[in-house]
Amino acid sequence: MYDLHVHILPGIDDGPRTIEESLGIARIAFYSGTKVLVATPHKKDVNELHSIDKIVSLTKTLNNLLNQKNIKIKLLLGMENHMSLDLVDDYLNGFALTINKSRYMLVEMPFFGSDNYVYSVISDLINLGVNPILAHPERIEMFQKDIKTLNEFLKMGLLTQITAGSINGYFGDIAKDLSLYMLKNNLVNIISSDSHSAVGNRSPVLTDCEKFVSKIIGFDKFNELVTYNPLKVIQNKEIISS
Ligand SMILES: [Fe+2]
Repeated sequence: MYDLHVHILPGIDDGPRTIEESLGIARIAFYSGTKVLVATPHKKDVNELHSIDKIVSLTKTLNNLLNQKNIKIKLLLGMENHMSLDLVDDYLNGFALTINKSRYMLVEMPFFGSDNYVYSVISDLINLGVNPILAHPERIEMFQKDIKTLNEFLKMGLLTQITAGSINGYFGDIAKDLSLYMLKNNLVNIISSDSHSAVGNRSPVLTDCEKFVSKIIGFDKFNELVTYNPLKVIQNKEIISS
């Protein structure tokens, strides 16, 4: 499995505070069958409190430690880019990162409300050759209120990443119901953990939802969402939108 959304860099955002905690996340992910983790620190925290150089360096340090400790999991770099008016400029200036330098960018829409500028920012990104992936749309109010809004973005070519914990009910009934609706209606491209810690509701264990999801869409489709599609993202290959 390939996990495209993980807060694993120590002391950067609301993820782990120490290197030991970061290694704990990687260890648990490895033992649950994940081969690659994409570190996706919040753009705001990186640029306001740290730097791109720092997260590049931390990713290298963690990979070296994982190697030394014989934990066979690789860490790649991405970013969770919250929607904002300056997202396009940030991308052009190297402050908003795509996943592993691919065309795919993890974009987090506002949790509450929506502004019209959102559509123009997304269009501008697409015109620049970026393929946005919606981070956990099932937790975002504008999609919870009206599924048509989600369909509009999907028509624009956006992909969707839902969070394993939403399926498990950790983010409430509305997020759970929307994630199940999306799974049943083939509106999900990727399942990731959005892990912030080694254990608890925000652990990196993708297999926690395997049985439940497989019952709904079958094991092969589950595997597509946790393995084949995320691998294509990492390799910058095309995913045919659901
Ligand atoms: Fe996240």
